[in-house]
Amino acid sequence: MGKDEIVAEKITLGLLKRRKQMGRPFAALTCYDYAMAVLLQEAGIECILVGDSLAQVVLGHPTTWQARLDIMLTLTAAVRRGAPQAYLVGDMPFLSYQINTEEAIRHAGRFLQEAGCDAVKFELSGADLDLVKALSRAGIPVMAHLGYKPQYAGRLDSVVQARTADQARQLLVDAEAMVDAGACSILLECVTACAARAVTERVCVPVIGCGSGPYCDGQVLVLHDVLGLPGAQKVKFCREFVSLTDPIRQAVETYCREVRQGTFPDDAHSYHMKPDELPDGVGEPTCRPEPQKPPA
Ligand code: KIV
Repeated sequence: MGKDEIVAEKITLGLLKRRKQMGRPFAALTCYDYAMAVLLQEAGIECILVGDSLAQVVLGHPTTWQARLDIMLTLTAAVRRGAPQAYLVGDMPFLSYQINTEEAIRHAGRFLQEAGCDAVKFELSGADLDLVKALSRAGIPVMAHLGYKPQYAGRLDSVVQARTADQARQLLVDAEAMVDAGACSILLECVTACAARAVTERVCVPVIGCGSGPYCDGQVLVLHDVLGLPGAQKVKFCREFVSLTDPIRQAVETYCREVRQGTFPDDAHSYHMKPDELPDGVGEPTCRPEPQKPPA
């Protein structure tokens, strides 16, 4: 499928499922604002996740715990305005679904109603099957995030998940149970490639990998890692596809220099009065007067 075909149609779960069946991987990225969302859609991305990683890369916090529901909803809605065709996934922040099922349904529903999401992602374990059933019964398309779960990082021994055969088997059991409970897609973070492959082959819903090898149906990375922006993680599974840090810093340095030198804004970047409206004897300045010397 070419870029033009992708951007011409709304990406649906059905389309992602067909891509799975055809063995044609799809691409996802995180995104947190309108301008980037426009660019992602223009580039033909299929899926966008407004991840709670925004607490780290946008807000500068050390963990995802600081992502609050109100800011997640506001920024997710902005991304939807920029990328109306992408399959948009909202991310349930810490404590927005752990307290009780009623709150989980109400909060998840806001991602659909207020932010225009196609699905909502939850960091889950085998103990959450009743929650997934209740959400699905309420009509919420659930993406089950398994493997490494940043909201539970304090309780995990290691980042890489399913290193042993037993752990891989357990992951497979959990993934299948999630689908049986109604999950419409699965995200596997930092899972060994072999275990991720087994899950992808076994379940009928799209599986998106984040640091989980090449066999998943789709891949997702954090946008800042891909664009080489401050806050990017230097971890094995990420690749910086471009480094935007230097061009942005240089552009801002040039702007600052030109403002200080008085060469920006120039005539071409200024509004003008109609010539016959100029008061007698007053000509429009074509450039800034020489700066005054500071008093000695
Ligand atoms: O919050 C996030 O960005 C994620 C990752 C899986 C990309 O959950």
